Amino acid sequence: MERHEFLAKLGISMAAICTGCSLVGCGSKNNDPRPGTGENNPPASGTGNLFNVDLATELQTVGSSKVTDGVILVRLAAANVASSFTAVQVACTHEGTSINYNTGQGKFICPLHGSQFSTTGAVIMGPAALSLKKYAVTVEGSVLTVTA
Ligand code: FES
Repeated sequence: MERHEFLAKLGISMAAICTGCSLVGCGSKNNDPRPGTGENNPPASGTGNLFNVDLATELQTVGSSKVTDGVILVRLAAANVASSFTAVQVACTHEGTSINYNTGQGKFICPLHGSQFSTTGAVIMGPAALSLKKYAVTVEGSVLTVTA
């Protein structure tokens, strides 16, 4: 007896099996696009100072980036001033995949479906429809602080 014949005798269709599977969530993964909810994106904790970076030792070249606590911080220019940096949520607003900064194109690109975002987090190209959350950056001496 073939499998489909066996299932037909039991009165179980493949649709019923698949529905049951989706109800219990087998094979699913967390694709929630909110920061800190996707499986690759740790939570951006609370408000206030999220993290500090010592510019004397980190992010010394234009285009370099660092991902911490659900935030991607990128150096856009050489001077150690706040306007030389941008910090946005690392989770794509489409399905939560971690975005990357493309130095040559000067924008963030999601590797999963190709959404593109400006350095301010605005959507340039979908399928993402929502902007990335942008975080404040301050620089005092060689210490950069990212703030929610
Ligand atoms: S998850 Fe980023 S474009 Fe789909």
